[in-house]
This record gives sequence, C-alpha cells and structure tokens, in this order.
Amino acid sequence: MDKRKFKIKTTFIDREQELRLLHNYLEAQPNSILFLYGLKSSGKTTLLYRLCDELAEDKSYEIKFLNLRKIFLDSYEDFLQAFFKTRNDRENGLKVSTKRQYSMFGRMLKGKKEDPFLVMEREFQKLVKKGRKPLIIIDEFHKLSGIYLPEKQKTLITELMNFFVAMTKESHLCHVIIASSDAFFIEEVYNDSKLRKTSAFQNLDYLSYADVKEWLFHTNRYNEVANFSLNENEIELIWETVGGSPWEIQYILERLFEFPLTKIVEKIKRERVAMVADWCFQDETNERKRLMKFFLDHSVQPIQAFDPSQRSILGEAVHDNILFYDPVEGAYGMQGKSLEWGIKEYFLSKFI
Ligand SMILES: Nc1ncnc2c1ncn2[C@@H]1O[C@H](COP(=O)(O)OP(=O)(O)OP(=O)(O)O)[C@@H](O)[C@H]1O
Ligand SMILES: [Mg+2]
Repeated sequence: MDKRKFKIKTTFIDREQELRLLHNYLEAQPNSILFLYGLKSSGKTTLLYRLCDELAEDKSYEIKFLNLRKIFLDSYEDFLQAFFKTRNDRENGLKVSTKRQYSMFGRMLKGKKEDPFLVMEREFQKLVKKGRKPLIIIDEFHKLSGIYLPEKQKTLITELMNFFVAMTKESHLCHVIIASSDAFFIEEVYNDSKLRKTSAFQNLDYLSYADVKEWLFHTNRYNEVANFSLNENEIELIWETVGGSPWEIQYILERLFEFPLTKIVEKIKRERVAMVADWCFQDETNERKRLMKFFLDHSVQPIQAFDPSQRSILGEAVHDNILFYDPVEGAYGMQGKSLEWGIKEYFLSKFI
C-alpha cells in the first residue's frame, strides 16, 4: 500500500476476466507458453503486477519476474546478470526479493562454462520436488533480440524459446508468461509454426465502456480525489475521445485540476492530428497518407484489405506506433481512439 499523499492517485480498474484467464492458465499443469500482447499502454505490465500481488498469498508459487524495460541489455553477459544473482548484487547489498522485485535465479553461475539453461532446469526440478510451482514472467521479452550466444551463431531469443517449450510442453515443469508491446515480435512468434502450436496467445484490450463508466463516476473512490466529479456528458466525452485507454484517461483526470474538459479534449485531438500530419509528412511518395485514408472509416482492417506491396509501409506504421498489428486476428488497427480522431481531423483539414 502506497502511503504517499497526492491530490490524485493512479488506480487499478477491474480486469476480472483477464485475471481469470491468467489464473486458468496457471491452474492447469504447465503445457504451453502464454504470450500476453496488446495495444501500447493497454495495461499489460500493470495486469502482470496485479497477478503477482494476487499470487503472493499463495505460497505454492515461486515467481520469477523480470521486467526487461528496467534493465539495460546489450550482451549475453547482461542477460546472465539479469537472470542470475551476481556477485555485485551481494556486494551492493541489493535486496532482490522485496515485493515486485522478484529475483530470477537464486544462485550464481559457477563460471562462464556453466550452462545457464541447465541451472534453470535443475532449479525448477528442485522446486517441483518440494511441491512448489515455478512461474517465470518476462515483460518486454523482445528486448533480448539482437543478443547472440557466445561462440555460437544462435540467437538468445531462439534458445530461450526452445528452452521454455521444453520446460512447458515437454517436461511440464514451470509456467511461462511472456509479455511484449512489440507487434513484430508477437508476429514472428505467431508465424513460427513450432511456437504457435506450443503457445497460447492473449490479447489485452483497453478497458470496456462499462468499466470506464464505473471508474469515471467514482473518481473520488478510485483516484482518491475530492475536488471534482464528472457528469454523464463529461464521461461520454472522455470515452468518445480516448475510449478505454487507461493511461490517457488518467492523463485527462490529472489535467482537470487546471483546465476545463473541453480544452483538454481539444488539445489531445490537436496533438493527434499533428502526430498523423508529421508521420505523413516524412514520406514524399504520399503512400503514408494513402494508408491513413484506409483507416478513415474503419479503424480496424483485416490483412486481406491490403496489397502485399504495402507490407513495408504497414510495418513502418506499426513501428512508429501509429498502427497496431494483431497476428492472431490477422488485422491492423489504429493505436487507440484518440488517433482515430487524429486521422479524421487531419483529412478534414483545408490543406489536405
Ligand atoms: N486496469 C487499469 N486501471 C487503471 N489504470 C490502468 C490499468 N491498467 C493500466 N493502467 C494505467 O495505464 C498505464 C499503462 O499501463 P502499463 O504500463 O501496464 O501498459 P502496458 O500495456 O504494459 O504498456 P506498454 O505497451 O508500453 O508495455 C499505467 O500508467 C497504468 O497505471
Ligand atoms: Mg508494459
């Protein structure tokens, strides 16, 4: 419990159904890797932290949580440091087992020669013998891409994936949840038939309309604010502008102390128009503009709506967080409702 005082706090809204799905995955004997993916800032990391908080009560789980966004990773050595306790952790007196700072593997590697995968497997076997359930959660997993194993031509990501398949589908030793905000990475995994058949994929969408209403009607309860409340029309306006994007909703609430809602909404829309305009302006062929037009009336488009020659421009849009790609659904969509406004108003502009 965070005891610090602020005029507005962040909150956690519902996610009952998504948490139930994660618990369901954990209640079955390990048999697959679970990939959690979804729109930028849809709440993947927050959901995983919540899951860990819920599991903290249950002493049968041994959770190894690694958020790679917090860690500088450039080499295989960095990976070993992140996954295994290192001498430095001890020397610096770092406490790695406090809440939300779950350690990875408790013991140090004996030397560079020792196989880290074997060490991990032995630790799982030991835990399972004691009746414990090991759970590995790695957030921002794609950050490992580009790292190679020493003296081998193999990539670390491929080796880790193979290892996790062996630990889940083959040995049934531990559960593995991998989260990523990188649509390319999820696409790569999904298109790898070996991994697709040994994994489950869960998309985390923005909050539902009902949940957003519940939140915004009770900001005093959820955000511990006393100074304002929102009426039905204001709540509708927020929903119309940013949909169920939790980060953007919180952003609006924080600004309500200083500005009227209409001004905040106008500013968000102007910023999104500028974002679309700037993105289109980088391309002299106007292909980006043509692509944006596709999404003017339908914010989600199935892959078959596009010509293969558009692959690279679609890739650029995903890379720049303009579009989101869902490989499981086989569809491209706008990165959020506020960007839909960006496109609409961009094409309404008298200059276009
Ligand atoms: N269920 C929720 N209720 C309220 N706020 C939430 C909820 N989930 C996430 N948020 C807020 O939304 C913001 C984004 O969440 P988070 O970082 O977990 O998203 P993410 O999907 O992991 O993002 P990224 O794609 O960058 O990895 C955070 O500021 C968080 O406080
Ligand atoms: Mg995240």
